[in-house]
Amino acid sequence: MFHSKIIGIGHFVPEKVVTNHDLEKLMDTSDEWIQERTGIKERRFYDPPEKGSTAIMAYKASLIALERAKLKAKDIDAIVFATLSPDYYFPGSGVLLQHMLEMDTKPAIDIRAQCSGFIYALSVADQFIKTGMYKRILVIGSETQNLALDLTTRGRGMGVLFGDGGGAAILEATDEEGKGILSTHLHSQGEFADVLCIREPGSNKIGKSVYENMHLNHDNIHPQMDGQLVFKNAIKRMPEVTMEALAANNLTTEDIDMFLPHQANLRISQMVQKFLRLPDEKVYNNIQKYGNTTAATLPILLSDLWEQGRIKEGQLFALAAFGSGFTWASTLIRF
Ligand code: UT7
Repeated sequence: MFHSKIIGIGHFVPEKVVTNHDLEKLMDTSDEWIQERTGIKERRFYDPPEKGSTAIMAYKASLIALERAKLKAKDIDAIVFATLSPDYYFPGSGVLLQHMLEMDTKPAIDIRAQCSGFIYALSVADQFIKTGMYKRILVIGSETQNLALDLTTRGRGMGVLFGDGGGAAILEATDEEGKGILSTHLHSQGEFADVLCIREPGSNKIGKSVYENMHLNHDNIHPQMDGQLVFKNAIKRMPEVTMEALAANNLTTEDIDMFLPHQANLRISQMVQKFLRLPDEKVYNNIQKYGNTTAATLPILLSDLWEQGRIKEGQLFALAAFGSGFTWASTLIRF
């Protein structure tokens, strides 16, 4: 059976930096509150004249990943694209990216698992590679979230948390034992769907009524969250699913060289780190400069480390995520 090795990673973040001080001018908040409660100092907002930003950021990230993998888009067999902020209501952003990369008629699959989206996408791609159906797959996490945020005091609970960006990873089949993605572990619990969501436009609202709803129902078109309930579940599920991955591979936390937690809140990452008893040098956070970029978070973390030369052959990386759905997931990757 084949295994999936990551042979290239890239990311793209928009140029526009939005600091906490910039947000202070839009709403009743403070740099102090945001940093103390979340660790975030700034985030990027995609704000160009062109439309279709989620796919465009994915495209720019993909070009970097392809270059690092020394491949051309035509060498890729399929795309798996994770996002909660697709360019269109339908079709998914995967086909837009497939067209931009001029990938003939190669398949594009869209994944909707929010903050866990990138690990879900890796898992789907990994299954295709293991079975031998595809040899090389482009896996994407990309998000344009600023347009959905309510950047007034009313929406400050969510408005300060999120940022935009895209990340790409290229998986390739290898027959080397013990290399690449060792396993993926996925969970969901839909009873909590309403705890963190954007409700509209939902399937019963498409058509004429979308327009009316957009104006009538302020709360439903912006993200809503019970922050404390999400927080409590995140700090429980991320360590749990990381331990599940370690147990499945007969490994312990001591075997981890680098742990990458989904970047929703620095306090969540620090608590998860504490549960797993990992030293600071084995955990990487970048929420300070990007905020929560949802499905793009993990590939951006990986690409950041790649650029810093901090991904070394033989190292064991553990990735864990938790978010809307609820969904949560983990993976272990041996580079
Ligand atoms: O990626 C998806 C997963 N998302 C998460 O994992 C997020 C999980 N939740 C969290 O990270 C935290 O719950 C938040 C950062 C969202 C909020 O932190 P908190 O410590 O739970 O604050 P809170 O919601 O309990 O609010 C505390 C106070 C409230 O004021 P009162 O009622 O105590 O007077 C809020 O109105 O802080 C107020 N507040 C703000 N103040 C200034 C809420 N948002 C802001 C803000 N600026 N942006």
